[in-house]
Amino acid sequence: MINHSLAHDIEQIIITHGFDILHSPGMDYEKNQRQHSDISCFEHSLNVAYVSVWLTAKLRLKTDTRSIVRGALLHDYFLYDWHDSDDRHNWHGFVHAEIALQNAVRDFPLSDIEKDIIQRHMFPLNITPPKYTESFIVCFADKICAGMEVVSALFLISMPGIRIGRAMQ
Ligand SMILES: [Fe+2]
Ligand SMILES: [Fe+2]
Repeated sequence: MINHSLAHDIEQIIITHGFDILHSPGMDYEKNQRQHSDISCFEHSLNVAYVSVWLTAKLRLKTDTRSIVRGALLHDYFLYDWHDSDDRHNWHGFVHAEIALQNAVRDFPLSDIEKDIIQRHMFPLNITPPKYTESFIVCFADKICAGMEVVSALFLISMPGIRIGRAMQ
């Protein structure tokens, strides 16, 4: 069980480091783009940022928190609806990390760690492994969140990304 003080600290870390990203037109687009179950891509990205920062706190890892937040927020910045029937989306799982990186580099200044987080988050489906500890953390958090988002929809459990997303509106 996560305590309220830690939860509040993590939310503040995400809002501080991700401020420009969270208030960008790209993220406005993600708010209307479904990811897993009824979770939007925006909420999923917030979930991944939250769980990534929580993991580094729990594991007491010395990592670049700002890069973790920004990389996690942008890891699925591919900016299309992968559920629609367009044939170009048949390879979504294999290609979206590269597309997300291209969009993110176009829209935001990114560190090498942030670029690696985005580009390598689909490991092992994309076979090149992450280069940095921060990228492994986000890659792992993404898998946890994808599973939790499906389960949370079935059991009506609230996820942090939904809470933070609503608090920002
Ligand atoms: Fe992804
Ligand atoms: Fe993801």
